Amino acid sequence: MNKLIAAAALAALSVGASAQQGQINIICSVQADWCNMMSTVYARTTGVKVNMSMKGSGEALAQLIAERDNPKTDLWFGGTGDPHLQAAEQGLTLEYKSALLPQLYPWARKQAADSGFRTVGVYLGPLGFGFNKELLAKKKARAPAAWADLLRPEFKGEVQMANPASSGTAYTMIATLVQLMGEDKAFDYMKALHKNIGAYTRSGTAPVKAVARGETAVSISFVHDVTTEATQGFPVGSATPAEGTGAEIGSMSLIKGARNAETAKKFYEWALTPGAQQFGVAARQFQLPSNAGTPVDARVPNIKSIKLINYDYAKYGASAERRRLIAKWEREVNSLPK
Ligand code: G6P
Repeated sequence: MNKLIAAAALAALSVGASAQQGQINIICSVQADWCNMMSTVYARTTGVKVNMSMKGSGEALAQLIAERDNPKTDLWFGGTGDPHLQAAEQGLTLEYKSALLPQLYPWARKQAADSGFRTVGVYLGPLGFGFNKELLAKKKARAPAAWADLLRPEFKGEVQMANPASSGTAYTMIATLVQLMGEDKAFDYMKALHKNIGAYTRSGTAPVKAVARGETAVSISFVHDVTTEATQGFPVGSATPAEGTGAEIGSMSLIKGARNAETAKKFYEWALTPGAQQFGVAARQFQLPSNAGTPVDARVPNIKSIKLINYDYAKYGASAERRRLIAKWEREVNSLPK
């Protein structure tokens, strides 16, 4: 950890972020441990006061829309990329080209280009399932390995996923299924799955935490979030669906009209350096970092071994499409009796 702080301090210095005054207001949409670590280290190494509030990706977007005429937020860190693209399209975020763009993987640069440089990729993470090995053994149930497996009768009431209005994880699932199966079949699938859903949670990581604690057998989750629970000793396993799956491009955006715009730009530059990106793993978060120079921990899911669809981020991050799919899910899936 000390070594990491030193590396982060160096990175902060190298982008001119040292010895600053003032404060920065950040909405953070990754898990709390990572948000807290970034905020503590940045405050300690630069002297800037960091006010961090944690919100799911959909909730963060809703807050930025509500604040549009008088933004209280300077920077939005993390969370799935689709709502960041939507924020860009709605003019809520600032056009800005980081000096570090050339160091980023192509998917992170494409996210920036798709948004007219109003957002940028900070990490990538594939969608899959989490399951509780002990509960499955008790039920003598095979672990799910395909989307089709989640419909098995032994999983009645045993699958949790998040609500796509608040959670980017759940929206990534809807967009993935629509791309994988076609819209009609995807909605038929989600209607059938509804019968097996025990709860739709607000946060994207609540389902895997319920799996870890033995409250439910299966979750639809980013696989790196399952790894986080495994590293804490919970009896969890993960799989990515055999039919194919999508991945999020976790993103970061500067807010247009922000009060602390210059401070926010320095944090933004820092967050794209390998020194800062290592705090993901230090906080037990195992997404693939976007800077090609950031060391990749062995526990980061290997995307080469996963059957990934060619996710159309621009299409599914468009405001009208995201709103339409979420409203359709509310109407045709969530309102059904179980
Ligand atoms: C977790 C994951 C992130 C993801 C985020 C989305 O923090 O580790 O990779 O971007 O969830 O959260 P949400 O609540 O919007 O689904």
